[in-house]
Amino acid sequence: MLEGNNVNLRIVEKEDLLIIKEWTNDLHIDGEYSPILQETINNLEKQYDNLIEGQMYFIEKKDETKIGFMIHMLSGSEVPGIGYAIIPNERGNGYGTEAVKILIDYIFLSKNIVRITAKTHTDNIASQKVLEKAGFTKEGILRKEMFLCGKWNDSAIFSILREEWKEPKILLI
Ligand SMILES: CC(C)(COP(=O)(O)OP(=O)(O)OC[C@H]1O[C@@H](n2cnc3c(N)ncnc32)[C@H](O)[C@@H]1OP(=O)(O)O)[C@@H](O)C(=O)NCCC(=O)NCCS
Repeated sequence: MLEGNNVNLRIVEKEDLLIIKEWTNDLHIDGEYSPILQETINNLEKQYDNLIEGQMYFIEKKDETKIGFMIHMLSGSEVPGIGYAIIPNERGNGYGTEAVKILIDYIFLSKNIVRITAKTHTDNIASQKVLEKAGFTKEGILRKEMFLCGKWNDSAIFSILREEWKEPKILLI
């Protein structure tokens, strides 16, 4: 488990995918800026098996309540990409920002990579604030890159380089 001050990241095991399915299929959790998905357990298991060099995590409060999930995956040419969601009634408490900081600590501490990327819908202010507070820089706009709610939307692409990463916030001992 990866421990922070207010949240921990716990690996999602295959047998936990039922919870991920409930959340993925609940359109309020991923929110208006994420693709509308309805997944079967079978589909999620295949995606889980194909997460080569990647991982899914639950975001948990210190009392082990699960309040969201995150993923990191290789998005081509050895650059990990990340994604995350917090359940609606736990948003606005700083948990999303802390979870992203923990995940980037883990990736930079465990993998010999120089950059991590994340993409968000250009209107997703909360997600962009999370990334900026976690040390990411906005690189630019990818035009009509994301198919959401029946139309093509622009995404903002963010990255953090190893040399921009401050010392770990993750509790290592
Ligand atoms: C994006 C998300 C993970 C943020 O999680 P969170 O725990 O609420 O984030 P934090 O509490 O760390 O807040 C980070 C900043 O965003 C701001 N914020 C939160 N919700 C906001 C909203 N709806 N509109 C504008 N700003 C918002 C917070 O005020 C905070 O900024 P501040 O410190 O300057 O006040 C959460 O909103 C979410 O799960 N959204 C749906 C899924 C999603 O969009 N995922 C990202 C896909 S790229």
